[in-house]
Amino acid sequence: MRRTLLSLAVLPFTVGTSAIAQEGFIIQDKPSAQCSIHLCDSINGPTYAEDGSIVRPIGWESWVFIGSPLTPDALNGGKATFREFHSVYIEPSAFEHYRKTGEFPNGTQMVKVRNLLYQGDDCLDNDEETGACLAVSGWGYFNGEYSGFELTVKDTTRFDDPGGWVYLNFGEERPWMPTAEPFAATSCNSCHEANGADDFVFTQFYPVLRDNDPKLKQRAMTPAKADGEDDASVDVPSQLPSVLSPVPVDEAELFEYLQKGEYKAFATADAEAHPSAGPHLEYGDPVKVFFSDEVAQSLEEGYDLHPKGSALVKELYAPDGEQLVGWAVAVKTDEDSDKGKGWFWVEYMSTEDASQKPVPAGNGVGLCAGCHAGGNDFVLSHLPE
Ligand code: HEC
Ligand code: HEC
Repeated sequence: MRRTLLSLAVLPFTVGTSAIAQEGFIIQDKPSAQCSIHLCDSINGPTYAEDGSIVRPIGWESWVFIGSPLTPDALNGGKATFREFHSVYIEPSAFEHYRKTGEFPNGTQMVKVRNLLYQGDDCLDNDEETGACLAVSGWGYFNGEYSGFELTVKDTTRFDDPGGWVYLNFGEERPWMPTAEPFAATSCNSCHEANGADDFVFTQFYPVLRDNDPKLKQRAMTPAKADGEDDASVDVPSQLPSVLSPVPVDEAELFEYLQKGEYKAFATADAEAHPSAGPHLEYGDPVKVFFSDEVAQSLEEGYDLHPKGSALVKELYAPDGEQLVGWAVAVKTDEDSDKGKGWFWVEYMSTEDASQKPVPAGNGVGLCAGCHAGGNDFVLSHLPE
């Protein structure tokens, strides 16, 4: 039913755009985003061709990857409507805006690139019924040929379509068309409006947007309201209150504390050692992380900043996973993380000799803070399952 609708809709603009491509299209200046939402003018919106069609974005490969729905043919009567992997990306300035405000600004672009299931010679076996491929890593689904390129753009100042969103398809097989015209709103907008979790977008299927939606974090952090209290009066804290760190930062005290294993009393810890994704001691050597109660609660509730007094101890094991050979420690000594200066760091490469350290201990140690800056307020580990 829907497939028929789509293929009808594709026809007219296929003809239209190839004509433009032959003539060579003149690209209009990028529109200055005239929206009321602040930050809007810094959004890298799409490029419009002179006839008003939209130019296929170049460089989408380096946009923010947000999710990968998969609708295999095998589960859809032999031909899925949108074949088969969907890799969805959002333009980075729009992502930044969403992360800060929870809103998709005018100029937002999202790309959905499709791939067929890989069926090539590198499958050791193929299962016709499921479409699966046996690769060296086991039975599964792998990305094969590209099978489509779609774009959605939001601009309430430009489009009358519901929500200010327009949807485009640049073709199935490559080469994809250089420009496309938006579909009629009836083809795309109503399903997105009715079923997308946030402003026409299927954020429920995009873990990167779910995790970075400040509205969800706020909801988790907002205390239950007493009757009659209105939203405006709820003061949403940006981090949990400070506590005294259970882990001392005085080095002599700290080493003794570690040797005694007092951190093992923390309720939250990895059940077992697992390979480190960092250079503690070597990449891949087993480690086990212990979370103080406050940092565990803060991670659980999704705060962007952890409370002063948060502490993490990471046990470092020899490759056999049995012998403890050192510790890495991080303690938040200030409410403000100040580019890592609010965190105390130390790593001991010995359980007997406190002088065996790759770098001197202290606040804001560059080696540690630089890599940990990519974490959630400098914490890279996720809570154990
Ligand atoms: C029957 C419902 C439905 C219709 C109609 C529909 N879509 Fe979608 N669309 C989805 C779902 C579900 C997703 C979530 C991701 C996925 O499955 O690929 C999605 C995601 C997208 C995305 C990624 C960004 C986002 O908004 O989540 C684009 C781009 C897109 N669709 C384009 C189109 C175009 C173009 C049309 C019209 C030809 C269209 N869609 C019509 C259901 C629909
Ligand atoms: C190149 C990246 C990198 C550098 C440099 C680095 N770490 Fe880590 N660290 C990690 C990763 C990745 C984890 C997550 C757990 C794992 O996989 O080992 C981690 C985990 C930790 C943890 C457990 C809490 C958390 O954030 O997950 C502590 C404590 C820690 N590191 C301390 C240090 C100290 C101290 C230094 C400096 C001497 C340091 N790290 C340098 C990558 C790094």
